[in-house]
Amino acid sequence: MNQPAMQGLRLNLPAYVKNARLIAWVAEIAALTEAADVYWCDGSADEYQRLCDQLVAAGTFKKLNPTLRPGSYLANSDPSDVARVENRTFICSASKEDAGPTNNWMAPDEMRQLLQIGDQALFKGCMRGRTLYVVPFSMGPLGSPIAHIGVELSDSPYVAVNMRTMTRMGRAVIELLGTEGDFVPCVHSVGAPLQEGQADVSWPCNTTKYIVHFPQTREIWSYGSGYGGNALLGKKCFALRIASTMGRAQGWLAEHMLVLGVQSPSGKKSHIAAAFPSACGKTNFAMLIPPAAFNGWKITTIGDDIAWIKPGADGRLYAINPEAGYFGVAPGTNAHTNPNCMASLQRDVIFTNVALTDDGDVWWEGMTDTPPAHCIDWQGKDWTPAIAKATGAKAAHPNARFTVAATNNPALDDSWDNPAGVPIDAFIFGGRRSTTVPLVTEARDWTEGVNMAATMGSETTAAAAGQQGVVRRDPFAMLPFIGYSMADYFQHWLDLGAKLQASGAKLPAIYCVNWFRKGADGKFVWPGYGENMRVLKWMLDRLDGQGGGTENVFGVTPGYADLTWDGLDFSAQQFDTVTRIDAAEWRAELKLHDELFTQLDFHLPAELPAVKARIEARLAKAAD
Ligand code: GTP
Ligand code: SPV
Ligand code: MN
Repeated sequence: MNQPAMQGLRLNLPAYVKNARLIAWVAEIAALTEAADVYWCDGSADEYQRLCDQLVAAGTFKKLNPTLRPGSYLANSDPSDVARVENRTFICSASKEDAGPTNNWMAPDEMRQLLQIGDQALFKGCMRGRTLYVVPFSMGPLGSPIAHIGVELSDSPYVAVNMRTMTRMGRAVIELLGTEGDFVPCVHSVGAPLQEGQADVSWPCNTTKYIVHFPQTREIWSYGSGYGGNALLGKKCFALRIASTMGRAQGWLAEHMLVLGVQSPSGKKSHIAAAFPSACGKTNFAMLIPPAAFNGWKITTIGDDIAWIKPGADGRLYAINPEAGYFGVAPGTNAHTNPNCMASLQRDVIFTNVALTDDGDVWWEGMTDTPPAHCIDWQGKDWTPAIAKATGAKAAHPNARFTVAATNNPALDDSWDNPAGVPIDAFIFGGRRSTTVPLVTEARDWTEGVNMAATMGSETTAAAAGQQGVVRRDPFAMLPFIGYSMADYFQHWLDLGAKLQASGAKLPAIYCVNWFRKGADGKFVWPGYGENMRVLKWMLDRLDGQGGGTENVFGVTPGYADLTWDGLDFSAQQFDTVTRIDAAEWRAELKLHDELFTQLDFHLPAELPAVKARIEARLAKAAD
């Protein structure tokens, strides 16, 4: 047998695979990792079912009660593998300056030694005893001019089935690649090779973890984790970190943003993109149901986590959702906070790290007012309300998630997979701040808005491993996701704004929000969720030149009378609690902006410290 034929046999190459670069790369990675077998995912429903059955047999999945939760599964991860690992995430650009001071950096050659080349290279033999799944996927509608293709090689069937829901995955993508098509190569291993005869565990992973990006060659290498953004490489690794570098080079934006459509009773449709850090309310806002008093208003979802935004020929910005599913936070989701989400989760869901009820359904903190009398927690232990009270044990991990197709969402926008995208009327930036930052503020111009986004702070959440509830700067909600230097990214936003403005286009308005101010009792003052419609309505009024507002130190803010209060008992005094600007708090806040600007000093656009100086001047004047 000649060499290529032998290779074809070992690679189990389907006849429809014709891309020489793809074939050579799969062969190279199969050899490096010493995978026991190679399987090409075709993305079919049959295949999905087969892989799910296989995951059930392996103990990774539990099949949920088919009457209560048809077509759905529960996976419990290893307790050490429950969230993104930001301190193990690397941007290996040629120079450290290009990764910038907020990213971990290692020289590309050094990283390649560690992963691929050195004697102890992590990927050498890392798939022994396992199947290598070839997962071809498109971020964005297949064949759309704004979409991009990736191929993930993973030794995790859990990743393969999740990728089928989260992306457009399978044979059609390979066919689109043809003989010459380009793709982003993504290599993923849980880092747990099996010796001959060694029994597998239900969630293989490794205590050593590397989530690595090579922006120059547009490659992703992920080792040691099977969870979420660490392992589903189309999401944060490709659609944000690598895509942000593509966007910088090509004049577009890859953002950690939801995109929603909002229709007024008169039928006018607007589109809003909003960046909130991880676990700060994007999925909820994207699926919002307006309060009863907002009769005739309707919100529809384009995307809940990532937006790719490109300038159109008319000078407006058009956004697409590159994903096809939602990998959303379960805890806190219920029929009052997010009814559309609960409806989406009725069938065909993969749950990860929620609790299993005695009747074979799922439960998580906040799902119902009354917890089940007994369930099995995310670590497989007995859980009762009494145990929780005594030990503080959570039934679901705080970063427990669901994986579900966008098409399950009853509020899905008709244009959600329109390759042309939707025109953006406003950007919203919001953090999780128990103090200091008011409910809503409008930037007076693009530069002021870019400064708002750049200096945004937020309390850390369970979406990333590490300490929680500490305020950190999270510029544009992109701190963990920018693929190059943060200061250069600010410049990219300023440049894009200037370019659009020069073309005579009206730029989207920019707002900053905070749903999370707390009162003296430590509770959220603002009711949030559906009631956020009241804030959104004010923004739409402003866009129409209608809504009232007064200037605060850093923008324009509504007075109590400027918001619609029908159907909500929220007093002027409560409104004051969530909107008040405390001069001492703001002086302390601006010190934190200063620290950020010092950290990002290299290439920091001069416009931003200039905005800060104006805020300081207003603050000084207000104090007089
Ligand atoms: P990622 O998927 O991590 O990027 O998160 P996300 O931004 O989509 O956050 P998500 O909408 O899943 O919300 C995370 C948590 O915040 C959930 O527990 C929600 O219940 C809670 N949350 C969302 N919106 C609000 C709100 O308006 N007010 C309050 N108090 N909590 C909210
Ligand atoms: C986030 O952390 O912002 C997420 C979840 O959306 S993950 O896909 O794990 O990054
Ligand atoms: Mn996210």
